[in-house]
This record gives sequence, structure tokens and C-alpha cells, in this order.
Amino acid sequence: MNGKTGGFNRFPWSNMKNKDYSFMPEAITRSDISDVSSAIKLRKFKISDLDQILKIEKSSFSVSYAYSKERFKSLYKAHSNDFIVAEKKSKVIGYIIAYNKRGFLDFDSIAVGKNYRGMGLGSRLMNFVLESFKNRGFKKASLEVNTANKRAMFFYKKIGFQIKKTLKRFYKDGTSAYRMEKFI
Ligand SMILES: CC(C)(COP(=O)(O)OP(=O)(O)OC[C@H]1O[C@@H](n2cnc3c(N)ncnc32)[C@H](O)[C@@H]1OP(=O)(O)O)[C@@H](O)C(=O)NCCC(=O)NCCS
Repeated sequence: MNGKTGGFNRFPWSNMKNKDYSFMPEAITRSDISDVSSAIKLRKFKISDLDQILKIEKSSFSVSYAYSKERFKSLYKAHSNDFIVAEKKSKVIGYIIAYNKRGFLDFDSIAVGKNYRGMGLGSRLMNFVLESFKNRGFKKASLEVNTANKRAMFFYKKIGFQIKKTLKRFYKDGTSAYRMEKFI
């Protein structure tokens, strides 16, 4: 993930009741796409979600890595269809930002609220995006993860990503990243 120190399948899309392949981010014309079984809805980000997203961000990343309000706003401006949130009873509990970067699906950031981790939501967000872009004809996904963040790396490996390269001093603080890729 870009600038993040920030990695299955408990909620495979094939198990979703709403299996109509309108999952493509730009095709989310209904405000919500929901998995009734889990009561957690995935939908596009709205500006009114910002404060809740910032709380999740602060509890997920250290100060030097957490995205600012301005960063989220500019990501939203540039990628409004590709900024997805997970919502439970009107509470935003996670988000993912991933978009087309030179023909590849590039994962920019993902975070799940602390109380909701380890329950498959991160996987569900990743799979949602992977499936959406696959349906749009994308063949490959990539991301960067800090070499020190073994947990995230394990998470991504579980989703099927493989380490392709080490990017020395990738982050501003001089730490390195692994580039991980997956065919979709
Ligand atoms: C990484 C993150 C998004 C994963 O979300 P999640 O909802 O907890 O992930 P899941 O429940 O779908 O986990 C899927 C698998 O990943 C692995 N995994 C996830 N979190 C893990 C952890 N903390 N330690 C070890 N393995 C972990 C597990 O193998 C898990 O599968 P299992 O429970 O069947 O063993 C979440 O932990 C998070 O928000 N972390 C802080 C932000 C971050 O580091 N983002 C990534 C870099 S930008």
C-alpha cells in the first residue's frame, strides 16, 4: 500500500446472495450492495463518512503513515468510484481504496476498525475489489507492503498475492517495501 506500513476467503463472493455482478465500482448506482448474511454493507464512500474513516485510520496506522483528511479528500476526488466503505448499522467499520494504475489494479490502502478485525472483513473488502476489476477485464493486481509488517504480508499472501520485488527505501522514513502481485 502506498506510504503505508500496513495481507483467505471466509466471505468468497460466490457465497454472496446478491450475485448479480454489478459489483464494478463504477457500476454501483444503487447506494448499497449488501451481504445480507453478515449485515455489513459495502458501498461507495461519501464525504460525510470522513470523520469515521479518520478514526479508523488513526487507530490503524502510526502518525507518520496515517492518511490525513486532505489526503482522503484528494483520493476521493480522483477515485470516487474506487473508495469503498464497509458499514454496519450506519457505522463505518472499514474501508478500501484501490484503482486503475497504468492498466493494473493497484491497492492504495485498506483498514478495518480494531473491534472488527479477524472476522473476514478485510478479506471481503479485498475480494470485492478483485472481483469488480476482474469483471472489468483487469488481469493483474499489485500493492506495496512494508517489509516489517509481517501481519499484513500474511494477510495478502492468504488472498493469493506473492512477493515479486523488494523496493529499498520505498517509504519516506527509509524503510523498504515488498511489491506483491496477484493474477486476477
Ligand atoms: C490488515 C487488515 C485490513 C486485515 O483485516 P481483517 O478484517 O482483520 O482480515 P481478515 O479477518 O479478513 O483476515 C484474513 C486473514 O489474514 C490473516 N490475518 C489478518 N490479520 C492478521 C493478524 N493481525 N495477524 C496475523 N494474521 C492476520 C489471517 O490469516 C486471516 O485469516 P484467518 O483468520 O482465517 O487465519 C486489518 O488487520 C487492519 O486494518 N490492519 C491495520 C491497517 C493495515 O495494516 N492495513 C494494511 C496495510 S495498508
